[in-house]
Amino acid sequence: MRTHHCNELRASHIGETVTLIGWVNSARDQGGVIFIDLRDREGVTQCVFRSEVSPEAAELSHKLRVEDVVQVTGTVEARLKTDTVDTTNDKLETGAIEIVTSKLVIVNKADVLPFQLDKELSNEDLRMRYRYLDIRRPRITGNLRTRHRVTKSARDFLDEQGFCEIETPILSKSTPEGARDFLVPSRLQPGSFYALPQAPQQYKQLLMVGGIEKYFQIAKCFRDEDLRADRQPEFTQIDIEASFVEQDDIIGLVEGLLGRIFKESRGADIPASFERITWKDAMDNYGSDKPDRRFGLNFVDLSEELKDCEFRVFSGAVAAGGVVKAINAKGFADISTGQIDKLTKLAQAAGAKGLAYIQARGEDRESWRSPFVKRMTDAEVEALRSKLNIEPGDLILFAADQWEAACDVLGRVRLECADMQNLLEGNTELDFLWVTEFPLLAFDEETGRYVAVHHPFTRPLKEDEEKLLKGELSTELRAQAYDVVLNGHELGGGSIRIHEGPLQTAMFKALGISEEHAAEEFGHILDAFRFGAPPHGGLALGLDRLVMLICNEDSIREVIAFPKNNKGNDLMSQSPAEVDAKQLRDLRIQVTAKKPAAAPVQG
Ligand code: AMO
Repeated sequence: MRTHHCNELRASHIGETVTLIGWVNSARDQGGVIFIDLRDREGVTQCVFRSEVSPEAAELSHKLRVEDVVQVTGTVEARLKTDTVDTTNDKLETGAIEIVTSKLVIVNKADVLPFQLDKELSNEDLRMRYRYLDIRRPRITGNLRTRHRVTKSARDFLDEQGFCEIETPILSKSTPEGARDFLVPSRLQPGSFYALPQAPQQYKQLLMVGGIEKYFQIAKCFRDEDLRADRQPEFTQIDIEASFVEQDDIIGLVEGLLGRIFKESRGADIPASFERITWKDAMDNYGSDKPDRRFGLNFVDLSEELKDCEFRVFSGAVAAGGVVKAINAKGFADISTGQIDKLTKLAQAAGAKGLAYIQARGEDRESWRSPFVKRMTDAEVEALRSKLNIEPGDLILFAADQWEAACDVLGRVRLECADMQNLLEGNTELDFLWVTEFPLLAFDEETGRYVAVHHPFTRPLKEDEEKLLKGELSTELRAQAYDVVLNGHELGGGSIRIHEGPLQTAMFKALGISEEHAAEEFGHILDAFRFGAPPHGGLALGLDRLVMLICNEDSIREVIAFPKNNKGNDLMSQSPAEVDAKQLRDLRIQVTAKKPAAAPVQG
């Protein structure tokens, strides 16, 4: 239906007769002559309708409305440029030319749109309800095309490395990835359910037992969890597993993969290898297992200096085996009371009793504004001054608690503080890093049991293997687990796996899974490990997060064609929805509670 696309014609085409097809991006009437910008996914071209060239086309052009689909045939001509008039447009790649139309076909009329495509729209519900229109915006079209580039690069790279793409079931069995499962009832076996995979974890390990050696999949994963800007109930992983490998092999592979992806999708050269820090150091210095290191605000430990402090919050924490940690928000002493309140609430929501602070307004301690400075000795104040490098104008924020709790709280405060101070404005850095040596086990206070930090198939560090086998459990046991982090986002995570029955059985036991329960739930894995399972390991990258960061977007919804909102609804197709009574009867399912009526979408 076209000879060229709408971002193709240049001065070199002048004189040619061409046909373009696309949408009317805009239409202007200039002294009775209609000019339109015709748009397709590649860009726009200006078309003009002059009655001396075609009276029919000129007449019809007055009927054109934004988003009509039209086909235009005409001659490529130079736009008028003289000493006094210049109608060229350097902002457009096609800005030197225009099409002088000899034939216009209105292929399909468009109704008035529910929103304008050339303006940013803050009503996300409305955008999502008409997502197909939203996708017409160059920004979203571009994001989806970048996503395609990313998966294409991943496939090419992994194929070249000998990896084989294999699909695994969507109708599958519950995998212990840590979130709630989505369930699908079985009609043939009433009362039984499939689970949608939270990740293809067990299948990919079984493919290793199957001798595949190098597997990958652009895999859909499903997790019924609370949603955020970087979490969707269904999302996509670049899922990888390999046999006869160690941690360094997987890390090297993923560095190469990300290098290729960033080069091909964004033209960016990233480091050939990324810095590695242990989980312990990440928590100790940044209070996060996915530290954003693009700004400072590093933690300073003051436990030793403040252990005898008259201010009980500090000395009490140290006496109870905990720590005192602080950050120096440089030049932020004039923080407003509202902002202090916000930080305090954030700390409290994370489990802290409060948030101690000093507003160091001037040089000497008398000018410092703080609820507790008067209770500190001169030596303590001097220790703070030198360790935190306090200068007039600084704001110091403290957390005092058990080590992990204090780090976690201060880590959240650190991020919010950076946000309040706009520390990342205009920052275009790409800060990749590996976080390694995650703990193997965490203790769940609620159930009084250990849980797997990564998942139950994760291998302990060599030094800690004996302890797991002997049942000497603690949160000090470390795992051969690693996350790749970019700018404070967890891009991906993986581990070297357990491949032997006895170690896997010990792990299930550590998690309080009885032998019968393990045989019932994981019998196939334990069976498989009896028949010569190769050593193996892998990792999964969150594709949506990766593309979000490549596209400089703040939400993964911007890089997913048809995302769900934060309540898990698809506002366009109105899912989830009730189903026919007959469908439920076939499944032998009775609904005992109705969903609350959804609020109507405005617009
Ligand atoms: P994990 O649970 O860490 O590991 O997931 C891997 C990566 O997937 C992304 N991700 C998500 N993205 C969007 N929405 C979500 N709800 C969501 N949840 C996770 C993150 C995360 O780093 N089977 C293991 C991998 C392995 O061990 O090989 C797994 O799924 O970017």
